[in-house]
Amino acid sequence: MGLLAEVVALLWRVVWLWLVAIYRAVVPISFQRRKDVTGWVALVTGSGSGIGRLLAVRLARLGCRVVLWDVNQQANEETADMLRVHHPGAQVWTYTVDLSRREQVYATAKQVKDDIGVVDIVINNAGIIAGTDFLNTADELSLKTMQVNVMSHFWTVRSFLPGMLQRDQGHIVTVASSAGLMGVPGMTDYCVSKFSAVGLADCLRLEIAKQKKFGVKTTVVCPGFIDTGMFQGFKYRFPKLMKDLKPPYVADKIVEAFLTDQPMLCLPRSFYVLLILKGILPVSVFDALSDFSGIFNAMDGFVGRKED
Ligand SMILES: NC(=O)c1ccc[n+]([C@@H]2O[C@H](COP(=O)([O-])OP(=O)(O)OC[C@H]3O[C@@H](n4cnc5c(N)ncnc54)[C@H](O)[C@@H]3O)[C@@H](O)[C@H]2O)c1
Repeated sequence: MGLLAEVVALLWRVVWLWLVAIYRAVVPISFQRRKDVTGWVALVTGSGSGIGRLLAVRLARLGCRVVLWDVNQQANEETADMLRVHHPGAQVWTYTVDLSRREQVYATAKQVKDDIGVVDIVINNAGIIAGTDFLNTADELSLKTMQVNVMSHFWTVRSFLPGMLQRDQGHIVTVASSAGLMGVPGMTDYCVSKFSAVGLADCLRLEIAKQKKFGVKTTVVCPGFIDTGMFQGFKYRFPKLMKDLKPPYVADKIVEAFLTDQPMLCLPRSFYVLLILKGILPVSVFDALSDFSGIFNAMDGFVGRKED
């Protein structure tokens, strides 16, 4: 094909993709085509609490066979019990695994394959935060944040993506954060880990597209502050303008996003406007706006999740 023909074909494609994106943004989810994941094996990390637990319940409701990974055995078993109560007959497996330990992740992945077989959906959700200034954070804690929040994604994806590519069916969901798109003082390690998770998801999507495996999808999720307890003490200066997100709402949106093969989800939607501003404003102007918004001091009263 000549270059001119290529450009014309590209223009058609771009227009078509824009129309699809607009349709997805404006048409209520109930009118959109959703994939059927009945019988799929779905693995959720960090399933013992918060968003991971809520996602597990929703996956069982969709008819998935659910694999729960968490370092907290008791909390993970509680999630499994909830699934069995809410969805009698649900198939659920629990594994205690410390995601900061690569060899444990690989060994548990192998165990899952031996026990259950293929995994169709991986939701890399587990996350931790130190919540201290960069210079006051212990090296070990910085390393651990990177290991749990992003390096574990390398190990889980390397374990389960090859099977998905072979079958041309699967979905990798990366639960990152709005802190993976914009820096926040007082959570440097967390931001770096989430920027990395967003980068990994971006590259994965492109590598899969390069292989033309159209049945394997990726979704990266970037929520703002969610009321799960993980960010206890985080304070907005204008809480009426930036309301905290409710966990069930976030879990519902994540499920909708992967059922409709949405590659990226930012919550709340107003965050897309901030992203555009960040892209077009001079850094100094954006920093001045951030300072005014109170983000410089938002972490001053941070206490984080208190162990139950
Ligand atoms: N809560 C928020 O405001 C918020 C905002 C944006 C993004 N997120 C992201 O959403 C995800 C879920 O957050 P949440 O609020 O539900 O957190 P949460 O603290 O309620 O749950 C995290 C789960 O991860 C597990 N976990 C922690 N370290 C682990 C390890 N080493 N190995 C295995 N499991 C481990 C914990 O036991 C817990 O069950 C995280 O990735 C978080 O960074 C949260």
